[in-house]
Amino acid sequence: MEIELGHSKDLEQSVPSEKKTLNSADIRRAYPSQDIGKGRGVFVSTYGCQMNVNDSERMYALLEMANFTPVTTPEQASLIIINSCSVREKPVHKVYSEVGTFRKLREKNPDLKIGVGGCVGSQEKDNLVKKQPMIDFVFGTDNIDKLPEIIAKMYQTEEPTIVTQFEHRAPYYVETLIRNPGVATFVNVTKGCDNFCTFCVVPYTRGREKSRPYDHVIKDIHELTQRGVKEVTLLGQNVNSYESEGGQDFADLLKGIAVETSVERIRYTTSHPKDFDEKLMRVMAEHQNKICEYIHLPVQSGSSRILEKMNRGYTREEYINKINQIKKIIPNVVLSTDIIVGFPGETEEDFQETVSLVQEVGYETIFAFKYSPRPFTKAARFEDQVAEDVKERRLSDLFTAHNILSFDLAKGYEGRVLKVLVEDFSAERGNLHGRSTQNKNVYFPGTPDMVGQTVSVRITKAFPSTLRGEWIQE
Ligand code: 5AD
Ligand code: SF4
Repeated sequence: MEIELGHSKDLEQSVPSEKKTLNSADIRRAYPSQDIGKGRGVFVSTYGCQMNVNDSERMYALLEMANFTPVTTPEQASLIIINSCSVREKPVHKVYSEVGTFRKLREKNPDLKIGVGGCVGSQEKDNLVKKQPMIDFVFGTDNIDKLPEIIAKMYQTEEPTIVTQFEHRAPYYVETLIRNPGVATFVNVTKGCDNFCTFCVVPYTRGREKSRPYDHVIKDIHELTQRGVKEVTLLGQNVNSYESEGGQDFADLLKGIAVETSVERIRYTTSHPKDFDEKLMRVMAEHQNKICEYIHLPVQSGSSRILEKMNRGYTREEYINKINQIKKIIPNVVLSTDIIVGFPGETEEDFQETVSLVQEVGYETIFAFKYSPRPFTKAARFEDQVAEDVKERRLSDLFTAHNILSFDLAKGYEGRVLKVLVEDFSAERGNLHGRSTQNKNVYFPGTPDMVGQTVSVRITKAFPSTLRGEWIQE
């Protein structure tokens, strides 16, 4: 049963009527008085992208305000939420099999409640409870701020509670809610996607594209820096289509953060090649002291024929021209990408064009996937689907070709001195870990008090995905 949620009484009183979306102050004011959790343990099991990781953190923060206690294992919890991902593979099966593993826990703890949120929640809605009656509630990607209220409802009724509507007309006003932000953290700037690439379920699970107001983002980052944050990664399905109510674009936002806040480092993900413009390249170059020279620019395929069938909005040549312009404008830029192999109709020649593009661009990292048909998407209905064994072979060939290239690129770091922001210390190994501006994971000996500092590290040895080095005191 899909229910419409009204605001609880406390919430109605605390949210001014002209405001359509809650912020953390509203929530703090409203929920503690309700004591929904009564101290129960809550565990969130997270799959998928950074956006989901950030959403799970938001769930923990909201539920802590409603008097749940975040715990680190499902065994300690009386409330388990699966924050699911449906971008690839068989996400629904994964959800069912994970819920199945909680059967024993429920036998021991009859108070245990299980919810499914995130993209599978938005996609499957009440189908989930029809097929798996152990699920007590389902909510979508647009309903996270109502989670305490949804859970309060769930405790009051025997029926499963399902809330998956998109808030299409509500503005995107969400303060960042992070309990312990640490040194490096994420800040949402856009959500949803209007691009409708023919393979992708995201426009259906995350809804229409929306941007947070410019001032809200700046204020968030300002507050995070006061809590010790040194690096922010701006998040969105398509950050390049950021547009504030005042007309600022993504380049303006990046520049604003660099100039108006004291955050030391700025990263962002994910960009769309068709919207990545020269203005953004110039802002990155001009503020390279703060904006990291690392760009994740998903190409998906090296064949113009396939790119057209994917509805990507650019050709191989246009993508390569853009990369060349980026390399010219942003000194020492480092690139990574996403690739799909075995998209419907992909021939051996198309696939070889992808391999040659990877070599021509020289990506340090690739994230490559076998095409997987998704519900609601156009490509799932294309007739010329590629056989599974062909997809497997192409994926393996692509990784083999890229491994040779990436190891050569990694070796190029040996002897270089990189600026590393130290994120954590491992007492076991006496090692510090941090990331360089190029987004390389660097390990080197040091002491715990160096966490949070940016230091110079000379690279002594390169491994395929990490670097080892020594701290240079300057
Ligand atoms: N099949 C395989 N990979 C996909 N991706 C998105 N949808 C699919 C799909 N149906 C990949 C794309 C995207 C990344 C997040 O996931 O490469 O950039
Ligand atoms: Fe999906 Fe394309 Fe939107 Fe990326 S740009 S989220 S691949 S529809």
